[in-house]
Amino acid sequence: MEPANLPRHVGIIMDGNGRWAERHGKPRLEGHRAGSESVRDITRAARQLGIEALTLYAFSSQNWSRPPEEVAGLMQLLREYLIDERSEILDNQIRLEAIGDIDKLPTLVTEPLTELRAASAHNRGMTLTLALSYGGRESIARAVRAAVRDAAAGTLKESEVDVERFNRYLPTSSLPPVDLLIRTSGEQRISNFLLWELAYAELIFIDVQWPEFRRNHLYECLETYQARERRFGKTSAQLAADSDSDV
Ligand code: FPP
Repeated sequence: MEPANLPRHVGIIMDGNGRWAERHGKPRLEGHRAGSESVRDITRAARQLGIEALTLYAFSSQNWSRPPEEVAGLMQLLREYLIDERSEILDNQIRLEAIGDIDKLPTLVTEPLTELRAASAHNRGMTLTLALSYGGRESIARAVRAAVRDAAAGTLKESEVDVERFNRYLPTSSLPPVDLLIRTSGEQRISNFLLWELAYAELIFIDVQWPEFRRNHLYECLETYQARERRFGKTSAQLAADSDSDV
């Protein structure tokens, strides 16, 4: 792996917990429990590699419609994760963030979440963002509402609304754009994750269920990423000329 060519921001759609559980004859919640072990391993590996930002899709706006006992079990797992990983996160200079409709989450999650966000706010090692009760369209709609409010208050002019200015209304505005999106379990969909932030991301769909996704799979994805040519709308020849002029 080339350390100089690592993605700055990696997003992961952690899919396949339910199918993993089914395959092992276990209840779905056991799949999510095994999945939280993958979260721990991948977070450590990303931090050790020096990745700047890792964003995990842990619970979508649409996941509220799952059976109530599965939702309750996931909330319990999130609480356990936040409590158990607290010292690991703080010791490793990780800043924990959350995006999504956080107010909808139960207190048993918001209590340790709010505390850890505040306790880790000044950390600069890596930003770990949990997308919770999150939807990409919902996030954009919320940003539009905030922009409209500013326009009504006279602090935003129509002529000022460009990509950079609009980006500031999104909850991810302090993070670099996503360079690499990984989705596990073989499905090839974005499922309402970071729609705006993924504009130029490389997409990798890997046929491994999330509870089995460990650091070696992450390294494999990073090698695939590094073998790709990111053109951002330019031609290959232009990119070659750009890199010649850099040296
Ligand atoms: C998708 O698998 C996964 C989820 C909806 C939840 C992800 C949650 C975790 C990995 C555990 C808790 C999170 C943290 C941050 C500790 P699925 O249930 O849709 O799988 P399926 O498509 O096979 O049914």
